[in-house]
Amino acid sequence: MTDRPWLDASLPVAQRVELLMGAMTLDEKVGQTHQVANIHPEADADALRGATIGSSLFASGATGGNERDEGVLAFNIDAAQRHAVEGSRLGVPVLFGRDVIHGHRTVFPIPLGLAAGWDEDLAERAAAIAAHEAVVDGVAWTFAPMVDISEEPRWGRVAESLGETPVLSGRLAAAMVRGFQGSDPGHPDRVAACAKHFAGYGLSAGGRDYDTVSVGENTLRNLHLRPFKAAVEAGVCTVMAAFNDVDGVPMHAHRHLLRDVLKGEWGFDGVVVADWNGIGQLVHQGVAENLRDAARQAIEAGVDLDMCSGSYAAHLADLVRCGEVDEALVDDAVRRVLTLKFRLGLFERAYVGEPSRGNAPTPQTRAVARAAAEAAHVLVSNDGVLPLDPASGVVHLTGPFVEAGEELLGTWTLDGRGEDVVPPAAAFRERLGEDRLLLTDGRFSDRAVQQVRGADVTVALLGEHPWRSGEANSVSDIGLPAGQLDVLRQLARIGKPLVAVVYTGRPLELGEVMGLADAVLVVWHPGVEAGSALASVVFGDASPHGRLPMTFPLTTGHIPTSTHQRPTGRLIERHEDDRLGRYLDDLVFPRLPFGHGLTYTTFEYGRPRLSSGELPLAGEVEVEVDVTNTGDRAAREVVQLYFRDPLAEVTRPLTELLDWQALVLAPGEKATARFRLTATQFAYYGRDNTSRTDSGEILLRVGPDALRGESLSLRVTT
Ligand code: BGC
Repeated sequence: MTDRPWLDASLPVAQRVELLMGAMTLDEKVGQTHQVANIHPEADADALRGATIGSSLFASGATGGNERDEGVLAFNIDAAQRHAVEGSRLGVPVLFGRDVIHGHRTVFPIPLGLAAGWDEDLAERAAAIAAHEAVVDGVAWTFAPMVDISEEPRWGRVAESLGETPVLSGRLAAAMVRGFQGSDPGHPDRVAACAKHFAGYGLSAGGRDYDTVSVGENTLRNLHLRPFKAAVEAGVCTVMAAFNDVDGVPMHAHRHLLRDVLKGEWGFDGVVVADWNGIGQLVHQGVAENLRDAARQAIEAGVDLDMCSGSYAAHLADLVRCGEVDEALVDDAVRRVLTLKFRLGLFERAYVGEPSRGNAPTPQTRAVARAAAEAAHVLVSNDGVLPLDPASGVVHLTGPFVEAGEELLGTWTLDGRGEDVVPPAAAFRERLGEDRLLLTDGRFSDRAVQQVRGADVTVALLGEHPWRSGEANSVSDIGLPAGQLDVLRQLARIGKPLVAVVYTGRPLELGEVMGLADAVLVVWHPGVEAGSALASVVFGDASPHGRLPMTFPLTTGHIPTSTHQRPTGRLIERHEDDRLGRYLDDLVFPRLPFGHGLTYTTFEYGRPRLSSGELPLAGEVEVEVDVTNTGDRAAREVVQLYFRDPLAEVTRPLTELLDWQALVLAPGEKATARFRLTATQFAYYGRDNTSRTDSGEILLRVGPDALRGESLSLRVTT
């Protein structure tokens, strides 16, 4: 202990970090800023013993890739770790990171689907289960949640996001951070989280992944930075830099946003990690002459840990020795990385050991996965065909996802397994038996059309394969994949009831689908409980209650369409106004507004009430609204509160989500949704990009989605 005083766990972390740093050479420090992919216990043995690798991404070993038997990954991690802990001069453990995005073995809906649940508690429980399962595989750090504001459905990565609004994204992100990290990320069941991708990535030009971003600081601050701030306030341990530039400055070299805003203004004291080769890409982006120059710019900008470009490992020490980089910058980065390692308890528990428990889905984790999958089901239209009566009629289940397993897990699932998924056909068979179920698996063509007459209702499972969304999977057209609409037209032509179930990683153009089908359910990619959740919603055991976390535009040509559009000088008072409308050939309202979602009952909203028409800067007021379940089924209603600031220093969104509250109401039951408001909720960044709260009018609206509901006027007074 005496020659390694930092191992004394009774000392405060900050002191342990300083003791360790005091013993480190410059090269050993630089090692802490270097992350490699797929560390290998033999191939990387010398580097680990020489302390030139501080962190690992993916962490697979001799078996390679992700195909591995239970425990092999943990074995490889321990074998690699042993070199670092027992073979290196100072014994600093390696930090193992992995993308655990929406579940580890128990896969939950894709994040956009999770967001459709509008349920912080569910998001927190899902993240906690993911952490609990991931640690068994030696994972100490996940690269989630992704909180990029998403208003561009062509961009494949909207699937990984929590939607288009800062409030929903920010609160769900904070919930996920709590779930991953708990109150102490060093607890053996928790992992460090990472808010990504800082910042503006959701604005990639044309929805093309990795493309450039032109956005001003005011829009960034009033919109795109907000969920990151929420994650930082929730204590997120790490933040990942984004691939894109922001108005010409690539984020991996963006000193102002990383150092001044994130670390300075917000006081973020965790680790800023590069994205994959993000530092190396500064060369491709044409702002760095070579890798050495890229390393200099990134460390100066505040990137602490280099993911896989090798630039820090190759050049940082030399840059310091040549006087081109201040050693204090390296020290700051290393201090942050070591602090995280101490906080995670890696010095006390470096090894995973033989997994003491498995991490396959259990009845308990499946129950949460099923609740999350059900909550992700958004009923976007229904002429009364749903729910189906499970006791009568023959159901024809058709479409490319009928027998699907792995396809229903969605993008970014490194550890989920197809065999863990309940396919729709299995769940429907269990419900209906063989006799009342007609299946046309995969052959979504003539065969499917023939079967329509033999059944009382057709349930068509359409939409995107997960490979059509996610990273690097952008599309130029948000229509359904080729051919699906043709078959749907044929199915509809027979005139029997038709239900369309849409699996997707993004908002799609659903106009014609809604016209052809008697009911449309958007279910995203729902995870391991896909089939069972679908059966319970379709047959009415559960009333659907998902709400769209992104606006669905009329057509691809209407992108972007979102709640945070700001007023122009030429007001469009009526959508059908052809002179002032923005397109000659089409109208300018969304197909489906943000927050939209139907259920099997109806809700009636009373007039919203304010406890006072005036809100002093330091005071608070309450808005309340009575909501009555006027139908004959119990259901969950997401009561949404929106606002508009009609007079400010800068243009402000026409509609902005402020808060929401879920009410679960029995038939005939009436309840009151109450929202407490303080003036700080109306704060915004003004012309000088500092935060301000103005006195004056605020227009509030309470309703079931971003377009409907009754307005109220509130006056903020100073
Ligand atoms: C993605 C990140 C991800 C990283 C590591 C990158 O390509 O942009 O979101 O965490 O790879 O897998």
